[in-house]
Amino acid sequence: MQMSCTAEHEEVLVSPSPSTTQSASASAAAATSALRTVDLTKDFRGFTAVNAVNLDVAQGTVHALVGPNGAGKTTLFNLLTGFLTPTSGQILLRGKDIAGQQPEQIAHLGVARSFQITSLFEQMTLIEHLELALASPTGLGYRFWSSRKRLGQFKARAMELLSQVGLADRAGVTAGSLAYGQKRALEIALAIANDPELLLLDEPTAGMGLEDVDRTIDLVKQVSDGRSVVFVDHNMHVVGSLADRVTVLQSGEVLAEGTYDEVRKDEKVITAYLGETGDTHE
Ligand SMILES: Nc1ncnc2c1ncn2[C@@H]1O[C@H](COP(=O)(O)OP(=O)(O)O)[C@@H](O)[C@H]1O
Ligand SMILES: [Mg+2]
Repeated sequence: MQMSCTAEHEEVLVSPSPSTTQSASASAAAATSALRTVDLTKDFRGFTAVNAVNLDVAQGTVHALVGPNGAGKTTLFNLLTGFLTPTSGQILLRGKDIAGQQPEQIAHLGVARSFQITSLFEQMTLIEHLELALASPTGLGYRFWSSRKRLGQFKARAMELLSQVGLADRAGVTAGSLAYGQKRALEIALAIANDPELLLLDEPTAGMGLEDVDRTIDLVKQVSDGRSVVFVDHNMHVVGSLADRVTVLQSGEVLAEGTYDEVRKDEKVITAYLGETGDTHE
């Protein structure tokens, strides 16, 4: 199965389908949830983009969110990070309901995201990007007025993060001069700068060539160590390589949930993707 490789939006999160909710809650007793949504719903003027979604991300796991365009992935991501307010339902972060909180508050609780669309400052150097991210846990840009001196105290940690994503030798160049794959790696460094417990990655491989895709798979594996990760990706090679669990969304609802091998054999999932299948990427 393959989901088309378009790269327009951002993403979202999801949950176990109605049919899997029971087994999911049974196993939730055993595994601790990093994140759980309960009947999470978002209406846009009568149109339900996310419909009673129950998603359960076990602590320390990598969880993929997939589904055709318009399935509600971006909306779900925006709900989880406070960029949108739910119409109803709960978002439980380590058991505490964070629905309705602001993005800044959610960031402070240890949730970080990368954006599908590149969000870098072309004229700023890599090290400056990292220093600003470290100075401002809520994201870039909020503290542009920070003094150089103040930012300087983050230099060592900033260099460490650049090394981690393979960009140490580019520390002093501007973001605008990076190749596309390097920009995405920088965005991952920014997302993990404040050591989030839960990392949300919005199509980390969108628009990449094969080589960058494989490099990104390795990078995500590395940065997922010690945290929980939810990512959206249309590339099934990426999903199969990274995900412990996969939730499939369609029309705002959970269509299926399971391991990659379970989900890809699911008749409902195959049917949902028939219209899109060009043929596999495997
Ligand atoms: N702000 C909005 N206002 C109205 N409709 C929206 C808004 N955001 C998303 N939608 C609609 O919600 C549905 C799900 O969109 P989205 O979450 O972007 O899907 P995906 O990311 O899975 O492609 C789409 O039909 C989209 O047009
Ligand atoms: Mg989207």
